[in-house]
This record gives sequence, structure tokens and C-alpha cells, in this order.
Amino acid sequence: MKRHETPHDLSIALSRHAPRTIRALLDPAVGTGNLIVPLLSRLRKNRARVYCVDSDLDAINRVSESQRESLPSNAKFIHTDFLTWSLQPRRPRFDCIVMNPPFAATKDRSYALECADIANGNRKVTRHVPLEAAFVYRAIELLEEGGRLLAVLPCSVVMSDKLQWLRDELLSRGAIKFVHELPPRSFPGVESRIYLMVFKRGARQKQIALLNHDLHEPEKLMLSLGNSGVTRLDFGYASAIRKLQLLKEYSRLQWIQLRHVADVLRGDVASPMGPRCAVHSTDYSDGFWHTSDRHDESVARSATRTVRKGDLLMARVGRNACQTAGRGRGITGMACSDCVLIIRPKDPAAVLEILFALRIILALEWSNSLLERGTGASYVSHNGLLELLIPMNACSKYTKQFYRFLRAERARSPRQSSCAVNSVAIELANLLTR
Ligand SMILES: C[S@@+](CC[C@H](N)C(=O)[O-])C[C@H]1O[C@@H](n2cnc3c(N)ncnc32)[C@H](O)[C@@H]1O
Repeated sequence: MKRHETPHDLSIALSRHAPRTIRALLDPAVGTGNLIVPLLSRLRKNRARVYCVDSDLDAINRVSESQRESLPSNAKFIHTDFLTWSLQPRRPRFDCIVMNPPFAATKDRSYALECADIANGNRKVTRHVPLEAAFVYRAIELLEEGGRLLAVLPCSVVMSDKLQWLRDELLSRGAIKFVHELPPRSFPGVESRIYLMVFKRGARQKQIALLNHDLHEPEKLMLSLGNSGVTRLDFGYASAIRKLQLLKEYSRLQWIQLRHVADVLRGDVASPMGPRCAVHSTDYSDGFWHTSDRHDESVARSATRTVRKGDLLMARVGRNACQTAGRGRGITGMACSDCVLIIRPKDPAAVLEILFALRIILALEWSNSLLERGTGASYVSHNGLLELLIPMNACSKYTKQFYRFLRAERARSPRQSSCAVNSVAIELANLLTR
């Protein structure tokens, strides 16, 4: 696994939220020790008990060599698997845990975590979770009341539906002081969004601060913890939802969820076969999905998931996947790879109205946050797409632009088509700045 060390400016930003006096500190995935470096003088002054854990012997040897002199003399450097170590019977407790845990984007690297199910009277359950979720769960168990967890986290913990239980767990055991969405590429070579989170065990809260980008003067919005049951903690999503609500209020565009006018199906020819013989994300260019010599009609597994006249397609995976909604050319009857989503209008005659509405909302740059998910490469969420609000009667409110769009689609002119869509999107964006 690649080691993604925390850049110095992020370690410093996180260290500002450590308790003023630290008695016992743990870094369960210490690596080169970047997260403890900004705390060294405080740890020495407080004569804190310090535990540095890592499953990589080289990392432990190196961090022990480089930091032993700077840490209190009783600091421990432990070469072990944290998830096993955290189960030992006489586990120490900590008032501060700092961590940038290993992230596991793939299912085969999931961990069988025994935990209490708070939704079911704390009954013991085994959940198969990504490593980062297991690290967070075990870390909060090792915190003293009032202790703090300062964590670097991937988007899974912050937004995935599958880890809603973990966010519920955090909120039932304490308060999430803030979740800070870092600027893209804050970690060299890491494409997906990364977050800083500070959690205080035993504290209570009614709102969570969601922060965005700039480390020193971030945008901020307060998320009320209502009764909705679902809490996504990414700034991008929360702020996109707010903007959509305002658009609904300010414009009379009959905003409805895509699910009411179309079904969404995922292509069923599995990678690596898919890219070789079915319609794949590489077949999208200039606003359309194109035919190719590679395509082989015989690989279709179910007639329902082959392209029909009137279908729209969208790439499911990869950067800018949200920007690939378009019609097919010469691909009717062809199967799609599992990297492609088929958007099938309930009324095939309404396909261009739906495409116009879909492209308008997706032309608003913040709308990506409503659809994109993923810890490794980002992907379009099937549910997110079904739930996406689209301005269904934009075609009759903005008739001039709609006719321009129709002409452009007929002439297969992607530039004209996006000009028509963008002029509506700009008007909508302006409504938000009134
Ligand atoms: C993303 S690096 C973080 C390093 C450092 N804490 C930082 O922020 O720069 C993750 C570290 O977790 C270690 N690691 C991976 N699996 C582990 C496990 N099960 N227990 C303890 N450490 C683990 C890796 O060896 C690596 O050093």
C-alpha cells in the first residue's frame, strides 16, 4: 500500500485542536510521525505518555530514530497491527489520538469489525468495513471522556451511506467539532477528497461546523442535527443542497427528482471484459456516445441493460463523469460496461427535455458534489443520480435556449449545445447571488 504522509501544513492545522495539556497521546498509524511533530514541545512539557504504533517495522524504526530524542523519555514505539493491539485486555486510554489511518478503497481489504449496533439496543454485530472506519471505531473506544480524536479521513467516513452507522456512533458518543473538506490534491497523488475531523468524546452538540478549503479562512456552514437520520458531513454536499433549495424557491422550474421521469440502470458487462466489447466510458466524446469497432452485440447479458432508442448514457467512474450525460449514436442494442449508467426516460419522447434539464443542473459546478462519491477514483452514485433534482420545465421557461439546444443536438454541435445550456445555468447561478 502507498504511504500517504500528512503534509506539514495539515499536521499543524490539526494540531491546533489538540488539548492544551496532553497526558496520553496515541498515533495508531504513525508512519514518519508527521502528525506528532507539531506537538513535540507540548508533549515534552506535559511529560505525556506517548504511543507510536505502526504495522511497518521500517516505519517504526525510522520514527523511533528520528523522534526518540524529541519525545518524552517514556515514549513507546510499537511495531504491531493497531486493530489487533486495540483489543488487548488492559488497553491504555488516551486524552488525545492523532491519526491518518490507512485507507482501503477496495472490498477485499475490508476488516471484520465486532461492534455494538446502537440502532438495535447495542446488540453485538460484525460489520465488514474499510480499514479507516475500523481505525476510527477503535480509536474512539480508546479515548477517555473529554478526550479528542484529530483525524485525517477519506470521504467514506464522512459521506458514504454504508458508514452512516459510524457517524451515528460518533454522534452518540460525543461531538464532532468540525469536518474540514480540504482543497483538491492536498495530498500529492491523491485524487479523492480528504477531510480533517475533530471529535470530542462525551461532548454534546446541536450543530456541526462544516468547513471548506482554505486552512486559515475556510468557508463555513453549520449543519443542524435534525431528525432526518442521514448525516453527510461533506461541505460540498451540504452547500449544494442549500443552493438547490434556494433555486427551488427562487425559480419556477418544476424541480423534480430524476427518478420520477427516468430509470437508471448500470451496464452489466463486468470489467475487464466491458471495455473490450461493450459501450464503455471511452466511447463518450463531444456530447455523444459513439459506436466503435470494438462493440460486440453478442456479449449482451440482459436485453433490459442494452441501449434503447431514447436512452441517455453517463460514465459512472472517473474525473468529470458527471459531465458525460448524452445520447448514443449508432449504439442501439449494444451492451454497456459496468462503468456506464443508462438513464432511461419513462417517456422516450421526453428525452431531450430531460437531457436539457439534466445538463443545466450539471453545468452548475457545485452540483458534482451531489453525485460524486468514492475513496479511490470517484464515481457517480446511482442513488444520487435518481435523487437529483432537475428543472423539468426549463424547456418551456427558457424556450429560446431550448430551441438553440435542440438545433445544436440535431446538428451535433457540442459547442452550441453547451452555450445554450450554460446561458440558463448562468442565469440560475445569478439567482443565487442576488
Ligand atoms: C497514511 S500513513 C500515515 C502516516 C502518518 N501518520 C502521517 O500522517 O503522515 C498510514 C500508516 O499506517 C500504517 N498502517 C497500515 N496498516 C496498519 C495497521 N493495521 N496498524 C498500524 N499501522 C498500519 C502504514 O504502515 C503507514 O505508515
